[in-house]
Amino acid sequence: MQTPLDSTPTLRRSLSLPFHNLQTSGDAELAARLGEALTVPGLPERVPVEERPLLEAALGPHLFHSYAGRTHPLLVRRLCNEMEPGQTLLDPFVGSGTVLVEGARLGLRTIGCDVSPLSIRLSRLKATLLPKGMQQVLLEQAQAVCEASLLRVKKRLSPPRNYDQPQFYAPHVYLELCGLRQEISTVCAKDAPIGEALLMVFSAIVVKASNQRSESSAETVQRHIGKGMVSRWLLRKTEEFLRFQSGGFWQPDIKRHPPLLILGDARSALHPSAGCKLASGSVDRVITSPPYLGTYDYLSHHLRRYAWLGIDPSPIERDEMAARRHHQPLLRRRQLHEADTWNWLSAVERLLKVGSLCFVLVGDSVLEESLIDGAEPIRVAAESSRFRVVAEASVERPHVVRTERPLPPRREHLLALQRTS
Ligand SMILES: C[S@@+](CC[C@H](N)C(=O)[O-])C[C@H]1O[C@@H](n2cnc3c(N)ncnc32)[C@H](O)[C@@H]1O
Repeated sequence: MQTPLDSTPTLRRSLSLPFHNLQTSGDAELAARLGEALTVPGLPERVPVEERPLLEAALGPHLFHSYAGRTHPLLVRRLCNEMEPGQTLLDPFVGSGTVLVEGARLGLRTIGCDVSPLSIRLSRLKATLLPKGMQQVLLEQAQAVCEASLLRVKKRLSPPRNYDQPQFYAPHVYLELCGLRQEISTVCAKDAPIGEALLMVFSAIVVKASNQRSESSAETVQRHIGKGMVSRWLLRKTEEFLRFQSGGFWQPDIKRHPPLLILGDARSALHPSAGCKLASGSVDRVITSPPYLGTYDYLSHHLRRYAWLGIDPSPIERDEMAARRHHQPLLRRRQLHEADTWNWLSAVERLLKVGSLCFVLVGDSVLEESLIDGAEPIRVAAESSRFRVVAEASVERPHVVRTERPLPPRREHLLALQRTS
């Protein structure tokens, strides 16, 4: 399929994937498929208006809500496009739901797990095609919330200030956000699913409304946000989300299954001992990208959002794996990371059918000025569990961290593991 993604040289940062030097090993056919997945073209930074419908039809809900560290949707598509409707696809580190959205598009049964309630809620919304009637109600409610908020701004009425901390926003923006949030709470009380969709739309605009440069940067910036602007953003974002629901992304005449989302630590939450009811051997494929060692801090990325959504960050603080903020000595961190990798992989092993594939996307990290191979813990864990690494591909990606001394190229690896008997 030729999309605007295939032609343009300017790339949006979060989903741009410049690559060099593809290397493959193992089963030739599978390795070629991994290589094709790793070398998908990046997303254009700007898309001409006339090409937007084409982009929206190709990517739909993937374009809703930023989430640092997300996987390129077309990479995932290349790893599952031959699956049959009704088969089961699992992502134990579901993040913003990329894998679930792709699975839902094909009519697969999808299961996602994540330690972050935001990830669970966002993935559920993105991977669900709402009935037409509900789409209409969502639009009407967003219009009503926006109107009520604009009226409050015009009359200079002060809403209760119950959320986040004002210093992260311009004073008038903070008040307007509090008002919007209060209006959405009223919707939640009357119609919980519609209120939840509006909360995710709110989550999609709140970092841009703050003085934080981006979700992955704590740097502050001065933005010039006029009165009434964030209310209009909320309405515009809702309209955009609804376009992703009704555009050509969702193939018609496919039976759809609601996604199953499990909030918890992938190292334990998928075990029967934690109350997980999923049967052994019930999953046909796993596609996942676990956190790269010491690269991101998903907790701090979403602190603004958690504060507005009423999410308690402490379980995430406790259970997030491989986070950048962890400060043990390097050797200890690597040992812990190996143990974590074995733990989540063995939970997945129980669920995957014998002979089926588990695709893992993982990147090298830079810690204490050393380059750490991201794929090695997966290979080691696979060896001591019922998995066999059948193929690998990797490409060079730009370094994300600046270092004093030059380091070898950082690589991103895609591994195909087969569940053995
Ligand atoms: C690389 S991101 C996944 C991105 C995802 N593929 C997407 O496209 O949005 C890794 C995810 O792992 C989650 N995570 C970190 N530690 C976890 C744990 N112990 N159990 C489950 N999820 C965890 C983070 O919250 C984050 O959402």
